[in-house]
Amino acid sequence: MNTDFFKQLAESKEGAEKFPFMPEGQAFDMGADVDGKPLFDPRILDSAEFFRNPYPYYRILRDHYPVFHDRLHNCYWVTRYEDITDCYFDDEGFNTIPKGSSSGVLGNTQLELSGVEHRRRRNLYGQHLVGKSLLLRIPAIERLAEEMIEDWSRLALGDEPYVNDTESKRLVELGRAFANEFPIRVVCEVLGFPKEAQPQFYYWYNSMMSGLGGSETHRVGVEARQDLEDYIQGIVEERRHSPTYLYDSAGNPIGKDIISKLCETKVDGAVLSTEEVTSNIALIVGGGGETTRGAILNMWTLLLRHPDQFLAVQKDNSLWDNVFHETLRHSSSIGGQPRHNTFDVEMHGVKIPAGSLIQMVDFSANHDERIFDDPERFDIFRQDLYSGKLLRSGYRKEGRCSHMAFGVGPHLCPGAWISHQEAIVGSEILLKKMQNPKIKEDLMPRDIDGNKPAPMGITSVRELWLEFDIS
Ligand code: HEM
Repeated sequence: MNTDFFKQLAESKEGAEKFPFMPEGQAFDMGADVDGKPLFDPRILDSAEFFRNPYPYYRILRDHYPVFHDRLHNCYWVTRYEDITDCYFDDEGFNTIPKGSSSGVLGNTQLELSGVEHRRRRNLYGQHLVGKSLLLRIPAIERLAEEMIEDWSRLALGDEPYVNDTESKRLVELGRAFANEFPIRVVCEVLGFPKEAQPQFYYWYNSMMSGLGGSETHRVGVEARQDLEDYIQGIVEERRHSPTYLYDSAGNPIGKDIISKLCETKVDGAVLSTEEVTSNIALIVGGGGETTRGAILNMWTLLLRHPDQFLAVQKDNSLWDNVFHETLRHSSSIGGQPRHNTFDVEMHGVKIPAGSLIQMVDFSANHDERIFDDPERFDIFRQDLYSGKLLRSGYRKEGRCSHMAFGVGPHLCPGAWISHQEAIVGSEILLKKMQNPKIKEDLMPRDIDGNKPAPMGITSVRELWLEFDIS
């Protein structure tokens, strides 16, 4: 890989000549008003420069336009940590209706709901992804990680393009060898999908995900969802009278899988319809793959590029928590969330008429220097980040704040706890397996100077080539 990555990115975006690539961390000069205040041209948001180097532009917004009325994209951008948390907590004033982008593909999900209706839907499955239920699922997460990594030793030279041995070293592309599929396998397992349906499950997942992206792939996404619903219908009917269970490593049942739980759940005295069960499943499937994949790859990339911090983690396994949270603060896999204001509001002197589209930029909140010191620095020991138990209320005490990668408040990601377990458990097992791992930098994308590693920008790492000693 090389700098062609950015060349291609620039060619796929408009305005490349207008917004040239800048040194990382430095914004292109878009001019200033008579008082010297920097101007902000919203076309930058569609440029390859912004994808690669977003943070200096978010800083301009935070410092000079904390609520930016973007007439080009017909929305308002909110970029400061404090404002975003306030809006997330105010579920009535800033609601998620009508998001709409997922309907048809994910079905009628709670993403489009607010208030009581949202809480009711969310509790149906959310309770199975936290607390004691989650603890019961940890052995299954461990087993799945072990199985996937075990497979590496069965591969002979040339068997797969992404695992190769050379003398005493093994080369692995961590995405294809682990991170792309691991979160999907976990979701499949905790939901209780039959093993034989798993290959088909990846097809449903991939099609639904690309279906959310654009009109061409939308049809395939809707078809995949329909296909999934047809398949689930049979399972739901069966599980209503014969529930299935998850098992520990000794083969003892540890609790019903989520599909079986959903099948027996009653709302207002009536069991959920197949459509309702399917929508819940489609949402869990949709939420749980790409996000955790990105988190695992970003974690390993950032950590290995900071060898002193990696050394500390090797000596103290408990630091994986810090790695997970600092990675999500520094380079999350989700940029932000849309909201619509129910009433006319005024924020920072900007009048926002009711019903406007407001983009809450979690990326920017996580890099708000009002909260996090020197925010572009990756530092698992930073004192201003809270890395404790995940709380729906968020955390803000004694100079420590939670990051915003899972949102906060009523819509806080219900998969936060399980993705945390996946990333930590998976990484601990990976660390045991890989002796002396290093990034094979000559296979990784380079920055525009052809030398430095490409910045992550607003995209997660797509491929991570690692080399380690074969013991
Ligand atoms: C590192 C991994 C993950 C990240 C960064 C992430 C991030 C997010 C964010 C930012 C939201 C939206 C919150 C809002 O609208 O305010 C969300 C919602 C959601 N996530 Fe995640 N997520 C991750 C993993 C997962 C996993 C593993 C699952 C499922 C097993 C999941 C399922 C969901 C669902 C169902 C919602 C909708 C919640 C609602 O509207 O109440 N996510 N996630």
